[in-house]
Amino acid sequence: MAEHDEVRRLAREARLELSREAERGRGDLWAIAAGEKVSPRPRRAADPAAPAVSAASATAAIGVDTSDLPPPVVSPPGDTLEQIAAEVRGCTKCGLHETRTQAVPGVGRGTTGIVFVGEAPGAEEDRRGEPFVGRSGDLLTKIIAAMDEKQLIPGVSVSREAAFIGNVLKCRPPENRNPMPQEIETCSPYLRRQLAVLKPRVIVCLGKFAAELLVGAKGTIGGMRGTVYRYGDSKLIVTYHPAACLRNPAYKRPVWEDMQLLAREYVSP
Ligand code: URA
Repeated sequence: MAEHDEVRRLAREARLELSREAERGRGDLWAIAAGEKVSPRPRRAADPAAPAVSAASATAAIGVDTSDLPPPVVSPPGDTLEQIAAEVRGCTKCGLHETRTQAVPGVGRGTTGIVFVGEAPGAEEDRRGEPFVGRSGDLLTKIIAAMDEKQLIPGVSVSREAAFIGNVLKCRPPENRNPMPQEIETCSPYLRRQLAVLKPRVIVCLGKFAAELLVGAKGTIGGMRGTVYRYGDSKLIVTYHPAACLRNPAYKRPVWEDMQLLAREYVSP
């Protein structure tokens, strides 16, 4: 009986997924991607012994029934990225508005269904109003370009413009200090609304702050990466922040492995 319910749940999810793709006009692209041969390595998901995250996570690893959990995404009807960006630019909800040059709502059309979420704007981002345009940004741009060059997702052109890139905090913390819990609580509804509008296929959390917020549990990147989580209807993976890779180049290899995981999850149902 439980097995029968599980099959029905999976079929429901698959139908929803296909209708969402069709709504976005991505049916063809999805068919191209799904038709291609992608490395058949099984994903590491829902291994209760592996991830260093608590079972109380608001977001569940794939394979765990999330039907009893409330949806993590709340969005006013008719919400748009432009509307959210306008609100972010005028936001005075926390003290960071006093020290920012400009707010950084996020960038990209999100048409590939891939969203990268970082921590908070740095000095260059604060100056230009765009996320990931400093040294970490250069590395993220290179990673995205390499994904495209290597055709990591066969038939799908990956670029900064076609992805969406945003942050947990929309304003720069002075001296690039860590975001404070109160700032995350105040600012994160903007990110959640962006995700609700974008309905991404895969969310990539860059670093601890994005990962802990969207997975809904504390953990290390080393413990959380390699697992595929759910955020609403999106898949979610965790990897090291580009700044961590700049500090420690040994992280570059695991980040590339995580991009390969992203590619596999992108084409799998
Ligand atoms: N730039 C951003 O926009 N976000 C980060 O997390 C780091 C640099």
